[in-house]
Amino acid sequence: MPRRPERALAAARFCGVLASVALAWFASAAQAQSAERLAQCAVCHGAKGISVSPQIPSLAAQPKIFVENQLVLIREGLREVPSMKGMLDGVPDTELSALASHFQALPAPGPATGPVQADRFQRGKDLARVALCGTCHLPDYSGRQQIPRLAGQHEAFLFDTMKQFRDHAGPGRDTIMSASLLGINDAQLADLAHYFAHFR
Ligand code: HEC
Ligand code: HEC
Repeated sequence: MPRRPERALAAARFCGVLASVALAWFASAAQAQSAERLAQCAVCHGAKGISVSPQIPSLAAQPKIFVENQLVLIREGLREVPSMKGMLDGVPDTELSALASHFQALPAPGPATGPVQADRFQRGKDLARVALCGTCHLPDYSGRQQIPRLAGQHEAFLFDTMKQFRDHAGPGRDTIMSASLLGINDAQLADLAHYFAHFR
């Protein structure tokens, strides 16, 4: 009789050990899977989250919530990114969050290395001030929460994506953001993109 509780306890301990072994296995399998996925992202977005192609956004130092939101929008097809089509099918939210944490922690891209055109830089700076872009994106354009970092982002991507927001924002995309570009013409968008890419 007195042996029983002991046995039950031993069995419980054994189960506990099994459970933690199983948990560790799951954790490492999940880690291996997200490492594999990160390698896939790196092909386009760069190993350090700084992409080489000017059409592909850098992700380094982007606020976690912004990246999470975009990954959900892209997975659900609300934001169309043809080159990422199918890549996020069935990827659980927890893994999207882990990816977002990874990118947020990487060092931010510095100012673009190409030549600065002083007049365009100044026009972009003045327009960004008048249009109050910094009230949301912060005065140093580092972004916060669901609002992306703009400083150091690729100029070509910034230009394309602003045009997209102004002219064809998709259903899942921020409407106040689109509204803030209304009435800004292409030449002005190009000045803004030049300014943010070279921001210092
Ligand atoms: C084949 C190239 C390619 C691969 C691989 C790829 N992406 Fe992308 N990604 C793009 C392009 C191009 C865009 C921008 C599309 C647009 O809006 O014009 C983009 C946009 C994004 C954005 C939105 C960023 C922003 O500033 O708006 C996020 C977040 C993102 N990708 C994350 C990922 C993650 C995470 C992976 C890996 C699971 C990944 N991408 C794999 C090409 C790629
Ligand atoms: C009311 C807040 C707000 C204001 C003001 C605002 N933005 Fe945004 N911006 C956002 C949000 C939120 C997003 C993310 C959009 C989404 O998730 O659909 C965004 C996205 C962007 C992007 C896309 C970057 C990327 O990596 O995908 C650019 C570029 C941008 N904003 C530029 C500007 C400029 C230029 C101005 C000023 C003319 C401006 N924004 C004003 C909130 C704002």
